[in-house]
Amino acid sequence: MKAIFKRTSLLLMGALIGISTVQAQKSPQDMDRFIDALMKKMTVEEKIGQLNLPVTGDITTGQAKSSDVAAKIEKGLVGGLFNLKGVDRILEVQKLAVEKSRLGIPLLFGMDVIHGYETIFPIPLGLSCTWDMAAIEKSARIAAIEASADGISWTFSPMVDISRDPRWGRVSEGSGEDPFLGGAIAQAMVYGYQGANLQDQLRRNDEIMACVKHFALYGAGEAGRDYNTVDMSRNRMFNEFMYPYEAAVEAGVGSVMASFNEIDGIPATGNKWLLSDLLRGQWGFEGFVVTDFTGIAEMIEHGVGDLQTVSALALNAGVDMDMVSEGFVGTLMKSIKEGKVRMGTLNTACRRILEAKYKLGLFDNPYKYCDVNRPKRDIFTKEHRDAARKIASESFVLLKNAPLAAQKNAAPVLPLKKQGTVAVIGPLGNTRSNMPGTWSVAARLNDYPSLYEGLKEMMAGKVNITYAKGSNLIGDAAYEERATMFGRSLNRDNRTDQELLDEALKVAAGADVIVAALGESSEMSGESSSRTELGLPDVQHTLLEALLKTGKPVVLTLFTGRPLTLNWEQEHVPAILNVWFGGSEAAYAIGDVLFGDVNPSGKLTMTFPKNVGQIPLFYNHKNTGRPLAEGKWFEKFRSNYLDVDNEPLYPFGYGLSYTNFQYSDIALSTPTLGKDGSVTAVVTVTNTGKYDGAEVVQLYIRDLVGSITRPVRELKGFNKIFLRAGESKTVSFTITRDLLRFYDYDMNYVAEPGDFNIMIGGNSQTVKTAKLTLK
Ligand code: BGC
Repeated sequence: MKAIFKRTSLLLMGALIGISTVQAQKSPQDMDRFIDALMKKMTVEEKIGQLNLPVTGDITTGQAKSSDVAAKIEKGLVGGLFNLKGVDRILEVQKLAVEKSRLGIPLLFGMDVIHGYETIFPIPLGLSCTWDMAAIEKSARIAAIEASADGISWTFSPMVDISRDPRWGRVSEGSGEDPFLGGAIAQAMVYGYQGANLQDQLRRNDEIMACVKHFALYGAGEAGRDYNTVDMSRNRMFNEFMYPYEAAVEAGVGSVMASFNEIDGIPATGNKWLLSDLLRGQWGFEGFVVTDFTGIAEMIEHGVGDLQTVSALALNAGVDMDMVSEGFVGTLMKSIKEGKVRMGTLNTACRRILEAKYKLGLFDNPYKYCDVNRPKRDIFTKEHRDAARKIASESFVLLKNAPLAAQKNAAPVLPLKKQGTVAVIGPLGNTRSNMPGTWSVAARLNDYPSLYEGLKEMMAGKVNITYAKGSNLIGDAAYEERATMFGRSLNRDNRTDQELLDEALKVAAGADVIVAALGESSEMSGESSSRTELGLPDVQHTLLEALLKTGKPVVLTLFTGRPLTLNWEQEHVPAILNVWFGGSEAAYAIGDVLFGDVNPSGKLTMTFPKNVGQIPLFYNHKNTGRPLAEGKWFEKFRSNYLDVDNEPLYPFGYGLSYTNFQYSDIALSTPTLGKDGSVTAVVTVTNTGKYDGAEVVQLYIRDLVGSITRPVRELKGFNKIFLRAGESKTVSFTITRDLLRFYDYDMNYVAEPGDFNIMIGGNSQTVKTAKLTLK
């Protein structure tokens, strides 16, 4: 898929301004001259040093920890550091590099600023469910302002790995299963972090360099097990998985992170086709490539060679910076002497790192990001927190909203009335540290209210909010420990399951409504958090069943970092609001939606399967030669299962609102599309309910006959609109030949003449359809 989105930063430049220093514009020739002169002074050792990225700080994600980093910095053997928090500490270390090393080359300071810095936004999977590119760009912009105020010049984001396997915990870090949407989000994030295209240099001190990851196909690991093998046809790669990386490159992303997995039998970190031929040759990437954490050393375990061999392999493949392995500083000198690595290759890598520093403005002012007055002014501000609250409320997906079974004609359970007593019950109801979600390295865990605390604060004087834990996270204590690492403990309760349940039922008895805060802990998704069972954990299920038996309205407020299997819940619970992990302001945002101040508008970006056996289950699948007829759930000798139908529980694009939207038929400006030109597809959407609300209008296209088999539908456009109760709006999509292109058998990017179904609707399954012919 080729990039369709052009450079259109959705934020007005400078609309959300921290302090900024504007530097004089320099030409590419100025940069070349500067770096030529600098490199002439550098020893081979110092050049290799620029390629070295050791870890610091409190968070490490692997086994390795580099020692005596300071001494290495003084010797010029370090190019950057990452996950060191605090502008004072960073200033100190930067001084070491600038004042104590022979050439005074400044360091890059990286960090996993994945969904916000101290003001935390929803986990990326949640963020993607907003389908709101301006909001997503704004979240990255705010993250850049805050991170840069604290000394950070480089973030390891956006993560754009397409995944169709919710067993993989890292689906929480990406934008779901669709490449078109994923590409749009990748670009919005890059613009948010880097502002103006990095190729023109970052002139401000509140913009930072982005790093698209994990290149490539990391989300396609076998069996959803993290770091596992990937094997994929080129055709699938380019039609279904590669576009978001390419889109980030097109947006000018400054760096790319190689992934842990192998591609065609060669680990990505040592894959020359991937890192040089495709990334630089075909896509024209001009920044630098960094490995993932110990990516080089892991090639020893992959079975590709010893540290010297794999380090040379990585450099020769196109890696420029070695994260943590110390394979470059440890072995490249020897490889150069033995002729296994050419000096020219080292020079190129070194130049790319220096160019990044130059573009960031660090040679003009190494302390550009070290303004010690900024943190107070720019981090965790009211303005940022208000934005995070609003965006979080947009990310929640209302999965079900019905009246109580006993009162069929009554109003749905949500929104709640601001009166009476509401009991928050569940192991996720009163935990601060679980609110921000996985990969929130810079979080201030004690400063974010738990759901119970947030609701109490918001509803003071109106609603009596009560609380009981009700159960532990998981019956098995050892499993719970594995699922609550890195300071995200849920403080396991030593009472028996029955004691916890009894207390919860007592609290429930005094309430008018029960908000059941259940699901995953934040560390049950994210890195190294694959699962093979995706239902609510045992003790939580028992708790939910008991709460439902009270006959009171229950709202399942579901915390999760991935699609879960919720068949039972869908059948028995009247209202289900999926809140993912909403970030620092999540509690307030949940309150906004539960009590109706915000009408939910999130739409799923990943299919929710009915059970784990259906995985991988995704909306843009192929038809097969034996598709199951629509509406059927089993037919002998058709592509299906004996024990479950083929349908998801909740399809891609799905999400309810407190109001209803009605779609007109599609009007095409013409039923045929010529070689040039375009067709407009128009629908009228009407808000037929009682609440104002936002709707994500989605365009899907099916290529009915192709030279290779084509998916049953593919997302090709979306438009989020706001409609007052009773209001109608027309939404139009422009369809050009470009939108119909795909990679054919010979990897040509073509649009083939023939018939297409044009589908528009509020999710991937409920659509209006029109026919279009491409001449
Ligand atoms: C993860 C990356 C991350 C890196 C640095 C790795 O384990 O895969 O996503 O950026 O650690 O913390």
